[in-house]
Amino acid sequence: MSTIRVELGERSYPINIDSGLLTSKDSFKDQIQSGKAIVVTNEIVEPLYLNSLLSALDGVDVKVVCLPDGEQHKNLTQFEAVTTQLLEQHAARDTTLIALGGGVIGDLTGFVAACFQRGIPFIQVPTTLLSQVDSSVGGKTAVNHPLGKNMIGAFYQPKSVVIDIDTLKTLPAREFAAGMAEVIKYGIIYDAEFFSWLEENAQALKDLSSEHLKYVVHRCCEIKAEIVSKDEKEHGIRALLNLGHTFGHAIEAEQGYGNWLHGEAVGCGMVLAAEVAYNKNWISKSDLERMIKLIALFDLPINAPEHMNYDIFMQHMQHDKKVLSGAIRFIIPTAIGKAVVTKDIEPDILQNILNS
Ligand code: NAD
Ligand code: GLY
Repeated sequence: MSTIRVELGERSYPINIDSGLLTSKDSFKDQIQSGKAIVVTNEIVEPLYLNSLLSALDGVDVKVVCLPDGEQHKNLTQFEAVTTQLLEQHAARDTTLIALGGGVIGDLTGFVAACFQRGIPFIQVPTTLLSQVDSSVGGKTAVNHPLGKNMIGAFYQPKSVVIDIDTLKTLPAREFAAGMAEVIKYGIIYDAEFFSWLEENAQALKDLSSEHLKYVVHRCCEIKAEIVSKDEKEHGIRALLNLGHTFGHAIEAEQGYGNWLHGEAVGCGMVLAAEVAYNKNWISKSDLERMIKLIALFDLPINAPEHMNYDIFMQHMQHDKKVLSGAIRFIIPTAIGKAVVTKDIEPDILQNILNS
């Protein structure tokens, strides 16, 4: 097992990564102080993994809340539904919530944990690649609003993150690819060596080699923990983790949540960000081609929906959380392994790229 710590003073916590953690009692030992927990999961994950988790929670008083599946349910309606069930099940301030599922369940459960009785403990048990390498770590919790993604939320850190990479074996191929977008993101913004490693080991990853998956999840969590420890509330370096997200959120909102997967939209958004970088002479043609090739290699879309032009993108991007004083801030690579936050993108560059 590998363990990474997110260092945040008294709110520090471990991320444990291995095969088989979901059924191991040790994974949750000393984590549920009051002996009372409520697992929040969904209709897809429950039949796959709830029993394994319950066996690891033997001796704990556990109740279960099961939600409908999908990004379209990451909303205030489901927030209220979970809260109602917590009240009906007599959850108290010392009840621990356990998020068993992908990023949708993790973000929603984390937000409920942040708000219920002004904050109760929660544990992330991510079961998708995207949630294992990104959303379960760092304490961003939220639900969507029809006018914008993740618009209602809080920074609220979990007590621990338990990652069982065996759960990736049941993940649909399209969801695996979506997770790879966030994996590639770390290579582009932070770690050129890791990017090269991904190029060299793409096939083993697509074949779901446990050894390779463990390394990928470990390295991504290590990078994310380092960034979050330096900048928990995204005043600086953490914004780099949003590479591809400004364009990506516009695609997700335009297409309707759930039609393009979050990771697919991020993958396409990273291609657009790389094209901006190339047009500004910040990266070479060969770096641009390597980025697009790796994104395409994992079967991610590299072209935005045909009807989406500059005007449509801008309309959605005005609602982005990175808009400050009316200016949209973009994350743009300056090399493989480096990126910057900038609002200085000439409109004609954006028009050329988004209209073509
Ligand atoms: P998801 O939670 O919708 O999961 C994808 C699909 O896989 C769902 O149908 C789910 O039920 C199913 N599933 C989950 N685990 C499975 C398994 N082991 N086997 C088979 N099926 C399984 O999507 P996601 O990609 O995990 O997360 C996307 C969400 O994460 C978005 O809402 C996005 O905004 C959010 N996100 C948050 C952060 C953050 O920092 N909080 C970062 C990135 C993304
Ligand atoms: N996924 C972006 C962040 O956690 O900051």
